Amino acid sequence: MRDSRHNLTKRRDGRRLTMELLPVFWIALVVLSSLQTETEAEDADVCQDIRRTNHLFEKRSSKQGLKVEAAAVKERNFQCHLYATELLSCSWSFPTLQNDTHLSVYISVCSDTVQTLSHMLKERVGSMNLTLSDHESENVILQFNVTLQREWTVYSYIYDIDEIEVLSPPQDITASISNGDLLVTWSKPMNRKDSLPDCFEYELDLGDQEEHKQMDTSLTYTLSNANPSHTYRVKIRTKVSDLCTGSSLWSAWSHTITLERTDKLNLLVIISISLGIPMILLALLLLVRHQRVLEVLFPPIPRPPQKYKGFLEKNDIANFAYPAPPAEPVEEITEVEDTDKTL
Ligand SMILES: *[C@@H]1O[C@H](CO)[C@@H](O)[C@H](O)[C@H]1NC(C)=O
Ligand SMILES: *[C@@H]1O[C@H](CO)[C@@H](O)[C@H](O)[C@H]1NC(C)=O
Ligand SMILES: *[C@@H]1O[C@H](CO)[C@@H](O)[C@H](O)[C@H]1NC(C)=O
Repeated sequence: MRDSRHNLTKRRDGRRLTMELLPVFWIALVVLSSLQTETEAEDADVCQDIRRTNHLFEKRSSKQGLKVEAAAVKERNFQCHLYATELLSCSWSFPTLQNDTHLSVYISVCSDTVQTLSHMLKERVGSMNLTLSDHESENVILQFNVTLQREWTVYSYIYDIDEIEVLSPPQDITASISNGDLLVTWSKPMNRKDSLPDCFEYELDLGDQEEHKQMDTSLTYTLSNANPSHTYRVKIRTKVSDLCTGSSLWSAWSHTITLERTDKLNLLVIISISLGIPMILLALLLLVRHQRVLEVLFPPIPRPPQKYKGFLEKNDIANFAYPAPPAEPVEEITEVEDTDKTL
């Protein structure tokens, strides 16, 4: 009885263990089989072996191979972008890679006909810029060879060049305000594929602290009833829409076009009027009161009357003591006889 119960428990435990381990076995099986197919790949010419883009392939020196921590090499550890249709910029960072391992990084650019030299670097954190001379290039292959003594694991990642192309900012931007509306225009971006206008979307920043305006395909934007008292600073960026092939990254922002507030002139006039008129009035007032102000500020120097002047110049003391009385005008009385009447 005790035994059978023990057996039952054991069997239950066994079944639970099987249930728990089953997914692990299954995953291991899938991983093993996928590893097997990838180990078959020939490494003579990476460009001859482009089977699947945007996928991390792993190849080991032996079945056991070098055990690299799963988290150490991940897709988020590296990236490649193509700028201005020809500048390839790749960067990587493997900070958690074991210290005693060696890392080699290879970049290959493949076109239909030619495989350009693969560039090799050995830094754990690094970047590399290449200028693509061949406009027909189709793929970029990044490879990381992690080596520990004689065992190695090589990771390969294949990009479709068109999918990593980051657009240049929109060009030929014009912005103006007419009839109260703000009108912005720009030209269709250029990319390697020369995609149709429908493939691009845009984001506008009007510098008005409002949300950015999202636009599909259109090459113009109109803001009706633009605020005339606002200075607009317009800039645009673009990216390829999800419907077409291209990077999901936005381009850099374009240069900024500044639209001065349209009422600036009016404002100036208002300011000058509101300040100017009182000033003019004040000036007039001052002019009118000028004389009086002058009199108050600079009172006239008192001058002796003319009669004292002559006396002072003569310096006649006797005269001073007994000043001669002013010659009184002699009154002349003329008697007019009324002769006419008597005559
Ligand atoms: C690697 O070496 C650095 C110092 O050089 C040390 O800080 C770090 O912990 C080491 N990492 C591992 C995984 O051993
Ligand atoms: C590579 O180009 C990018 C984009 O122009 C730039 O930001 C980066 O500094 C460049 N890196 C190197 C290593 O020259
Ligand atoms: C990885 O690097 C090691 C050591 O440098 C080298 O022996 C091995 O051949 C390389 N593996 C590949 C696939 O290039």
